[in-house]
Amino acid sequence: MLGRGAVQSDYMHWAKYQRPVRYSLSSSDVTHFRLDRLPLTIADLDLDGASHFRYAPLRHAIAERYGVKPEMVVTANGTSMANFLAMATLISPGDEVFFERPAYEPMLASARFLGAEVRWVERHANAGYRLNIDQLEAEASNHTKLIALTNPHNPSGALTGEDDLLAIGAIAERCGAHVLVDEVYLDSAVPPRPTSALLGPQFVVTNSLTKVYGLSGLRCGWILAEPGLAERIWRLNDLFGVNQPHQSETLSCFAFEHLDEISAGTFERLARNRTLFNEFVGTRGDLLCMAAEHGVTAFPCWARGDTEPLDALLRSKYDTSIVPGRWFDMPDHFRVSMGGETDMVKEALSRLGAALDDLK
Ligand SMILES: Cc1ncc(COP(=O)(O)O)c(C=O)c1O
Repeated sequence: MLGRGAVQSDYMHWAKYQRPVRYSLSSSDVTHFRLDRLPLTIADLDLDGASHFRYAPLRHAIAERYGVKPEMVVTANGTSMANFLAMATLISPGDEVFFERPAYEPMLASARFLGAEVRWVERHANAGYRLNIDQLEAEASNHTKLIALTNPHNPSGALTGEDDLLAIGAIAERCGAHVLVDEVYLDSAVPPRPTSALLGPQFVVTNSLTKVYGLSGLRCGWILAEPGLAERIWRLNDLFGVNQPHQSETLSCFAFEHLDEISAGTFERLARNRTLFNEFVGTRGDLLCMAAEHGVTAFPCWARGDTEPLDALLRSKYDTSIVPGRWFDMPDHFRVSMGGETDMVKEALSRLGAALDDLK
């Protein structure tokens, strides 16, 4: 894991430089959507169109979809930049930030880069990866500036329900802190849940069209925050660029108009793939994992320990990939993603079974 002040995400670097495999259980995007399936022509992508500052049509589309005021929406380059901008606005060096553990490493690395003093709020496997709110209640204080989590949780897929979110919001309010909720997987909760941006001004939410809609290439990300904070985030964004790419903004508006078509079949596929995964785990005495119910990912524990050799064998012999648990500081676990086509996921699970048998 990164030391304080390191200017890098070791996980992201690793993920980007792995040789692509045919049977991927490592990429947490759903199958990428091809825009040529929509009634769109090149003329719709006006190259010299006004690249309006804080492009209003996109802000309105996001606001309408998530039931917030447009003044609460800041657009950003994917959830990654949204997380960075939100934290850079809220954290000063030395500030105390509570992070869920296990955590999504690039988000944690951003907080450390910004000089946060990271403390942990645990998610234990034997508690279904539910956040330990009693611990947070006991340990958070007026030194705490931010509580950061993902919902559903990356890697386990655990969903934090409204009661727990409200309890966390109340702790943050008592401490004068904010709650950052990365909701990049939220639209794949079963059933869908409203954004926690609606729960109070202490909530700051990030999201994008990347994971659940298979539109990673658009880099359409956003932050939802109370208008005063949203304005501060926009102002910080001035350091990083003049405008977002206009074609991407135009396409993103188009995508919001066609979101039902874009996601047609995705939720059924995820449900099928989760069932396949749960059945697979049920056949394996060497894996322990709570049932996958929400989101795209799951995080089994392997009885034989370090999953790095498992990933290496999968890649070299089986053209298959997982994410070893070391990236979440839990080396005897591994992350499985289930957003791909069902036939591919089925074959990937069968190959995973063969590799696990090889290493018995
Ligand atoms: C929790 C979480 N946040 C953000 C991202 C990155 O999202 P984006 O591609 O929109 O930057 C990921 C990608 O794996 C993720 O798992």
